[in-house]
Amino acid sequence: MRQGDLVSATSLSRADVETVLDHAAAIAADPESWRERHAGTLLALCFFEPSTRTRMSFDAAMKRLGGDTVDMGHVESSSVEKGESLADTVRVIEGYADALVLRHPSEGAARMAAEYVDIPLINAGDGAGQHPSQTLLDLYTMREATGLDEVTVGILGDLKYGRTVHSLAEALTEFDARMHFVSPRSLRLPRSVRYDIEDAGGEVREHEDLNPVLSDLDVLYVTRIQRERFPDESEYREVAGKYRIDDETLAAARDDLTVMHPLPRVDEIDSAVDTTDHARYFRQAHNGVPVRMALLDLLL
Ligand code: NCD
Repeated sequence: MRQGDLVSATSLSRADVETVLDHAAAIAADPESWRERHAGTLLALCFFEPSTRTRMSFDAAMKRLGGDTVDMGHVESSSVEKGESLADTVRVIEGYADALVLRHPSEGAARMAAEYVDIPLINAGDGAGQHPSQTLLDLYTMREATGLDEVTVGILGDLKYGRTVHSLAEALTEFDARMHFVSPRSLRLPRSVRYDIEDAGGEVREHEDLNPVLSDLDVLYVTRIQRERFPDESEYREVAGKYRIDDETLAAARDDLTVMHPLPRVDEIDSAVDTTDHARYFRQAHNGVPVRMALLDLLL
């Protein structure tokens, strides 16, 4: 973030996170006074993978700051179909906009692309790598719900391919959070993420069952099994539907447990949970706008 890009959560210090979250809270408290702040600014949206929340909330955030967006559109209708390289694509787009948001299926794509452009670049997901702007809105939501000090967080689901998990876990080490990682054996955290957590002084506590740790949790962060990343559909079928959070599961949880999910969900949280006080995932998605407004304002 210090070079004007946001590529990975590993580069976010506690002070960086607090700066963005405080700024987002100030914006959320008085959105009207930011309406003209970035009039004339253009943000490029380059999504090489499907997106609803990330694309639309960046779009809304830029427009609510008085700016506008230019969208690369679907990959099938862009020159990528003609064989253009990512490096060329971003170098061209750099000439059209003041900042760039990139989502790409290859891990490392955002870091590579950032080498080619001088405008701020935000990684909106690079394959099974990182998704740091999601982490900022996750932390904002967590701070609103429980505070970030001495928080105990359970992270459940696809810890191997889930990029939101990698970014969130690394950022939580900055807050000395106690983390429990719950997944099938085949979907445990990648070694590189474990090492980053341990290097930062965090402890990686791994479990296959949620029940033994559920009552300790302040926050349960549920994730979707990332079907599109599995090299083999039969491997996906082995783990699909393994965890399902419903009223029965939550009967063993603390009354003040906060349930989060980056969304989209498939079947990992029963819709009956939506109307309970535990559910924070829709608010979490809505927080994407003030948090991305704050991020854009700071990077621009
Ligand atoms: C996530 C992503 O794209 O990594 N979605 C999002 O940005 N909110 C999570 C997912 O797709 O499961």
